[in-house]
Amino acid sequence: MTRAISLHDVSKVYYASDARVVDRLSLDIAPGEFLVLLGPSGCGKSTVLRMIAGLEQITDGRLLLDGEYANDLPPSGRDIAMVFQNFALYPTMTGRDNIGFPLRIEAPSTDPSPRVDATARMLGIEDLLDRYPGQLSGGERQRVAMGRAIARHPSAFLMDEPLSNLDAKLRNRLRAEIASLTRKLGVTTVYVTHDQSEAMSLGDRVAVLRGGVLQQVDTPRSVYALPRNVFVAAFIGTPRINLLRGLVRAPLDGAMTINLGKQALRLPEPLSLDHKLLRVQQGREVIVGLRSEAVRIGRLAEARPGETHITGLVEHVEFQGHEVLVHFNTGSRPAVVPDLEAARPQARPVRRRRRETRMLDRLRARAGSLRAGPVVALDEPAEQPPAVASPDGRQPGDLVVRTTPDFDLRYGMHVPLLVDVAHLFVFDQHGERICPAPDRLPDLDE
Ligand SMILES: Nc1ncnc2c1ncn2[C@@H]1O[C@H](COP(=O)(O)OP(=O)(O)OP(=O)(O)O)[C@@H](O)[C@H]1O
Ligand SMILES: [Mg+2]
Repeated sequence: MTRAISLHDVSKVYYASDARVVDRLSLDIAPGEFLVLLGPSGCGKSTVLRMIAGLEQITDGRLLLDGEYANDLPPSGRDIAMVFQNFALYPTMTGRDNIGFPLRIEAPSTDPSPRVDATARMLGIEDLLDRYPGQLSGGERQRVAMGRAIARHPSAFLMDEPLSNLDAKLRNRLRAEIASLTRKLGVTTVYVTHDQSEAMSLGDRVAVLRGGVLQQVDTPRSVYALPRNVFVAAFIGTPRINLLRGLVRAPLDGAMTINLGKQALRLPEPLSLDHKLLRVQQGREVIVGLRSEAVRIGRLAEARPGETHITGLVEHVEFQGHEVLVHFNTGSRPAVVPDLEAARPQARPVRRRRRETRMLDRLRARAGSLRAGPVVALDEPAEQPPAVASPDGRQPGDLVVRTTPDFDLRYGMHVPLLVDVAHLFVFDQHGERICPAPDRLPDLDE
């Protein structure tokens, strides 16, 4: 049996610190779905998982398991297994006893061996069953911990960064194993990670959290192709999307451009519908988002329809083997997205007078994802940390472009660049996406 998990406006307030660490989270997780909760450290991922497991009280809102109100259900009544980041195995028990332990608790008179053996076969850990945790490697211990969760045949799995203590190679292998295992078992899984590539490779859907507030929940393709705001755009995808501050110029009698400081992106005629809609931003500051695949090295004469031309000064070249990341200076000003690496929700007063609370709630609801504070900072930051520190301490560029290792690019070269404006993202001053227009349906087969 697998189950549906629904959260309706679920909040968590720790009164000791007066902080609302999860803020009116609503999510519907379908039976058998693999949902990833993704966000920077401290954004409330583990708290959400612990509330679903019943290890943490829900301050406000409702948790439904298969449509039944479950806020007050004890953890043991939820039939949910949790795998933690710091997998704790009983050190004095063998692998077999560790896996069989929850089964013996559940049904003391039944021999757990057949289930333990079947689980071990599924995970390929038959040869580890007679060893103690101290005789196992980190990856092997994690498999045994996984076995302990699986053997119970729970109706849902909650996994809290189960792979983060492992080295990159093992992590990749176990990631694939988890994906195929949960698919085979067809059990609803909520998986927490702060690693966007892990989220993208595992999830049927990815829910992006920032400061306890849900920013977007969608398929991996959609969160990448149509991020709702600048935070999601910046959090998802490597190399990180280029975010540049721009000014829309839409003269009545000339080409529409987005001024990037020293250069401008000219939007080709006839304007696409999305670009026509940008007209209303005339004279306003916006944030231009360019994924590295939207820019290529090439002269104006080589431009394809829809490509516009700028020039970049090479600041830094990152050789990665199969590709090269080139950091260009284009004379633009990067937009700063706070909280990308480590969001710590601000402690804010939670005991307000009722009227004040209602008014604030209305304002917050209207502000949508702004509930956790502005997604983007357009004020000049006092001290902006460099996005990438070049080894010799030079200023990093404002535009990172991915290219093949064929180009021999060196520091100080002026390089012609072609920008595919069909793949341009534009966000408003609050960081909300305005291009492609928010109501556009993803046309991902294009
Ligand atoms: N018992 C507690 N009392 C007060 N504050 C808490 C408590 N537990 C967690 N917090 C705070 O709640 C916020 C969310 O914590 P949580 O553990 O859910 O974050 P997370 O997204 O899982 O982070 P990480 O990726 O680092 O594990 C953090 O700011 C944390 O300091
Ligand atoms: Mg956590």
